[in-house]
Amino acid sequence: MNVQASVSRYSQDFDLPVRGDTITADRYISKDWMDLETRNLWPKVWHLGGVLAEFEDAGDIVRHNFGKESVLMVRQEDGAIRAFYNTCPHRGNRLIVGEAASVPRIVCGYHNWTFDIDGTLVKVQDPDDFAGGSPCGKVHLAELRCDTWGPFVFWCMDDDVAPLHEWLAPFPERLKGYGIDTWVRVLKLSVDCDFNWKIIRDNFNESYHLPTIHPELATFINDGLPDTVFEMYPTGHNSMWMKGHQATTRVDYHTTEVPAPLDDVARAWDIDPEAYNGRTGDLRQAIIAAKRRLGPGRGFTNYESMTDQQLVDYFHCTLFPNLTLTMSPEQLQVLRTEPHPTDPEKCVFQHWCLYPPVEGMKTVMGPVGELPLRHDALVRHSTYGDGVSVGFVADQDLSIGTTQQQGLNSRGFKGCILPNQEKRVQRFHELLNDYVKGTEPA
Ligand code: FES
Ligand SMILES: [Fe+2]
Repeated sequence: MNVQASVSRYSQDFDLPVRGDTITADRYISKDWMDLETRNLWPKVWHLGGVLAEFEDAGDIVRHNFGKESVLMVRQEDGAIRAFYNTCPHRGNRLIVGEAASVPRIVCGYHNWTFDIDGTLVKVQDPDDFAGGSPCGKVHLAELRCDTWGPFVFWCMDDDVAPLHEWLAPFPERLKGYGIDTWVRVLKLSVDCDFNWKIIRDNFNESYHLPTIHPELATFINDGLPDTVFEMYPTGHNSMWMKGHQATTRVDYHTTEVPAPLDDVARAWDIDPEAYNGRTGDLRQAIIAAKRRLGPGRGFTNYESMTDQQLVDYFHCTLFPNLTLTMSPEQLQVLRTEPHPTDPEKCVFQHWCLYPPVEGMKTVMGPVGELPLRHDALVRHSTYGDGVSVGFVADQDLSIGTTQQQGLNSRGFKGCILPNQEKRVQRFHELLNDYVKGTEPA
């Protein structure tokens, strides 16, 4: 194990030291470690629960099952969204068993206890049969914190965790230019997987795997180390900026003809790709200029508030511990893994895609093909290995999950050996160590 404290490819303002803790296999395979996360990690972070578009009317409910926990987010009469644990205060039955509901009141299926959508018990069978009189009006569903950012609804189990906007820092500020408040979730996919949730977290915390796992990205995303900027923030989150509309500098595409699909992208912005043969790296700048010139007229009104980088590059925002937001000017991907209720060697992977509303645009080309540009045009849950795609890049990432999980179970695995560019993986595990040992940073 050798991880240096400072790496030049990290931006000077957002580099953080690491200690060099050994990343052992137990965190991926042991039930004890999983129990520590259940107790000390998951209650201490905000969880993305849904999108605002799911809560049109009072009484609209979205259920979020997370590990053994289940949370209900409920739209109130006043428009606010409140979150309650999905457990009946009578004897603990789960109240809502579907993914979503739209109800005037929440009714338990066991003994018919009935709650207003603000969580207050309003009706019970035999109300006079309780010591102290009817529990109605006195008993409430257990509530947890709920807040919104952009198009998203979040919940948190702990009252001492920083408020959502502080906890998300610096992303609300950094992502402001994209104007995501109005973006539409078109795609909502999930898949049960045979590996620990951190396998994919680690994957999203590094770009070292790109040449091997995603070779076809090389012609339009520059994963060359000198061109990539990594940042780590005091909140525990981190990010990676990769130049888009530019081929990798790992391979000599820069003195050749403009490779596909960049040539088509150039044409789409009224640029003749042949003019860039032999200097393909310059195309990125030309596309910035073309997007500025032509974008607003084509309905991309949000281009005006974006920086040049945001117009063409990929901004991978990896939030501690389990949420990734991958930004491009025309697509926001939510990628995350959540733990299985009982098995440390399983998880659920989720992939949502959001798109800006563009006047006149009826469809979008997403990671599983063309879809209508409307809320939840495709919602699908599957089991990994059944051949159902969760997006071609995500499929590639998941393809190593099971074999890595198997390898981590070997007596021969002694802990990770990381190059400097995987420092974000190192920091993730050190933060995780602090949380599970109950010494999380203030
Ligand atoms: S457990 Fe809910 S009414 Fe009895
Ligand atoms: Fe990947």
